[in-house]
Amino acid sequence: RRPAGLDLPDRIFGDRRNSRGFDLTDATELARIDAARDVAVPDATPLVAGVVSGQTRAVWNPATGAIVAQVTEADADCVEAALAAAARWKASPQERAEVLRRAADLYEEHFGSLFATLTQEAGKSLPDAVGELREAVDFLRYYADQGAVRSDAARGVFAAISPWNFPLAIFTGQIAAALAAGNGVVAKPAEQTCLVAAMAVRLLHEAGVPVRALQLLPGDGAVGAALTGDARIAGVAFTGSTETARKIRLNMVDTLDPGAPLIAETGGLNAMIVDSTALPEQAVRDIVASAFQSAGQRCSALRCLYVQEDIAPQMIEMIKGAMNELRVGNPWNLSTDVGPVIDAEARDGIEAYLAEHADQVLHRLETPQGGTFIPPVLLKVGGIAEMDREVFGPVLHLATYRAADLDKVIAAINATGYGLTFGLHTRIDTRVQEVSDAIHAGNIYVNRNQIGAIVGSQPFGGEGLSGTGPKAGGPHYVTRYQCPTACDAAI
Ligand code: SER
Repeated sequence: RRPAGLDLPDRIFGDRRNSRGFDLTDATELARIDAARDVAVPDATPLVAGVVSGQTRAVWNPATGAIVAQVTEADADCVEAALAAAARWKASPQERAEVLRRAADLYEEHFGSLFATLTQEAGKSLPDAVGELREAVDFLRYYADQGAVRSDAARGVFAAISPWNFPLAIFTGQIAAALAAGNGVVAKPAEQTCLVAAMAVRLLHEAGVPVRALQLLPGDGAVGAALTGDARIAGVAFTGSTETARKIRLNMVDTLDPGAPLIAETGGLNAMIVDSTALPEQAVRDIVASAFQSAGQRCSALRCLYVQEDIAPQMIEMIKGAMNELRVGNPWNLSTDVGPVIDAEARDGIEAYLAEHADQVLHRLETPQGGTFIPPVLLKVGGIAEMDREVFGPVLHLATYRAADLDKVIAAINATGYGLTFGLHTRIDTRVQEVSDAIHAGNIYVNRNQIGAIVGSQPFGGEGLSGTGPKAGGPHYVTRYQCPTACDAAI
């Protein structure tokens, strides 16, 4: 809400409403959510203004192995049909904003089927599914406000390539920003999560987005490569690995206009420092949430924890105790804290990493039967420099440091080249400022967990190898989807 007595421009506050909250302790609310579980998840097909063709395959529930629904993946003819039909959205900024707000309302109305699909297709726990729906709705309303106040200066048709770990929120955020600015979009969701993407696009179409302005191409990397190397594309929004972002950049250089933007949010080797003045109970709660919530499958997740050596023995015991309280299992179950990782390939990759580092395991929970589960694991490392990759799962690396070496720890964290999230637990005020100034990270969190940025309050994005900016959910994001001259005029 607009604070009383402050003369701030409308575009800061607009008429945005917060997304609807869900009370998972309320029996009536839970009964409504539960009813949606028995409704079959619809199949996904390309949603294009032309030829629909391609191979069909089954989608498996990562927690149970059951078949959820079928996906038809776009073939080359279908990609060509989408590109040939793709067009800017020519409605006025105000009309576009109204349609995006209507889409936000439709998302909220269809919460049951969205939760069921997020849980069955992506293995999301119910609280994570709630968070994801709320973030998607917030993106729609926030970017609707941002687009409506700027002049109409779309760039053209964007390719939006999104990840499986936030298959509704990030998928919707990229599309909403591009559409709010008046562009057209051809969206390629992660191949693991096409069902929820198709559900979202159907709701956006129902709200009033024309099919030619928003088309969906389920498929693998070949579809992404075809889009990002086609001169009819005016820009690319991408969230995923740093390696894929590099490939996209190279692909764009050969064919796209030299001014075409790549808006990329990529990986991280996120660290947290806990010094000896931290409140241990609070730090442990925030460490466990940051490392293990969403089965560690967040780009913001904590990967390397530095604990000052004076308090390390106590902290390690407390972390192990808190890990023992976590329940790993079927994500639909409300008592579940950690669901499965996305698929067998992800599980096998993490298991191979753990086998390589077996002598460093400090603690590991039991693996449940069935499904693609990785139970939370705590590994001892000498420092972040030993970590040669982002392990995208519930694996926390722990290092200890001497108080006199704090500067060296900060230098090692910066030397990774990534810069997404960073956490600090301390009760020394001057240290908060000194460390925040020295660390290279897009989002710095002090005395709290380091996941779950809120749209409009905590713009989210990294620097260095972690992304190009501008930050998602922040006041500059939509401007990147517009021609630079229009941004200048609007600001
Ligand atoms: N925005 C998410 C978070 O803050 C990560 O993508 O956790």
